[in-house]
Amino acid sequence: MTQEIYLSKKDIIKYLKTTNAEEIKYLFDKANALTEKLRGNKIHFRGIIEFSNYCEKNCFYCGLRRDSKIERYLMTKDEILNCAKFCHEKNYGSLVLQSGEITTNKRLDFLIDIISTIKEKYNLGMTLSLGEMPKNSLQKLFDAGGHRYLLRIETSNESLYKKLHPKNHSFKNRLKTLDNLRDIGFQVGTGVMIGLPFQTYEDLANDILFFKKMDIDMLGMGPYVADEKAPLYKNAPILKDAFMLSLKMVALSRLYLKDVNIAATTAMQTFDKKGREKAMTAGANILMPIVTPTHLRKNYMIYSNKPCVEDTKEQCFNCITARLRSINKEMGQNQYGDSLHFHKRIQK
Ligand code: 5AD
Ligand code: SF4
Repeated sequence: MTQEIYLSKKDIIKYLKTTNAEEIKYLFDKANALTEKLRGNKIHFRGIIEFSNYCEKNCFYCGLRRDSKIERYLMTKDEILNCAKFCHEKNYGSLVLQSGEITTNKRLDFLIDIISTIKEKYNLGMTLSLGEMPKNSLQKLFDAGGHRYLLRIETSNESLYKKLHPKNHSFKNRLKTLDNLRDIGFQVGTGVMIGLPFQTYEDLANDILFFKKMDIDMLGMGPYVADEKAPLYKNAPILKDAFMLSLKMVALSRLYLKDVNIAATTAMQTFDKKGREKAMTAGANILMPIVTPTHLRKNYMIYSNKPCVEDTKEQCFNCITARLRSINKEMGQNQYGDSLHFHKRIQK
């Protein structure tokens, strides 16, 4: 299991298509072996605080889109700090601040205040997942203490991107924002949805090549889950078994990109109760337990059947630590668990 494998685009497509159980096992075992070589059996945590579901955008696939008739909320500073305190007490090491996209100055000031307070009070790594913003706003968030940023490209195929978004959502601006994040000094994360309507095996292989070309540090990917509140619901995907394809994308990305951080995303658990564990034994090394207060979770349904919606943050902590034990992995307690790729990249 120590010999590395080298993948061409053709190999990637072959693995995406295969239904051969032995080939699939070989792929997952190789990816797990490389992950353990890089990270031992440590999984790094980022407690995710879904602090607001307001969104200016109208992506065709998302349950939080502007036109969705859902109850909107913005957590108060105290509520957010309370979640950050929990992450600190549970030795999570890091948190993620996630919301829909809001580009007002009022929101920016609110974020700067929250980020700098968390930075001052708790020694926690901080990932931001707040959508596209102008470069000077992102710079201010970085200066306040955010050091990692997740912005999924959703698909690297521009014409597919256009089918998934209204006309005023710009693929080019998304690319530009990823460049801006890197220029500012963030650890940059991106990712795609898997099994989207119109998406092909070739698109998925190109996504992995895109991650490499963009020199990204972190990856968050998961299956597309059709949501009846969103207009894309009416288009059936071409590819079958989005969950298996997502596991394969995790494994192939690990083998192709090697030293990046890869999340076992919550969406992985939508189609399979052990989805996140399976991802963590196929190349993923990051877990994002939800710490959002329970009463708000039902209003943060990005897609239908989202797991953990009825649970408390304590239940999520207990559940996740048990899940890790079941696969002989453990939490990297109190560590930032930064992307190894990022540290190599900035030394160049
Ligand atoms: N299924 C799966 N993932 C989704 N996202 C949005 N809508 C869906 C869906 N229907 C993902 C997008 C976005 C992230 C916050 O949630 O990739 O970037
Ligand atoms: Fe808003 Fe993000 Fe959903 Fe698009 S995917 S509608 S930007 S929350």
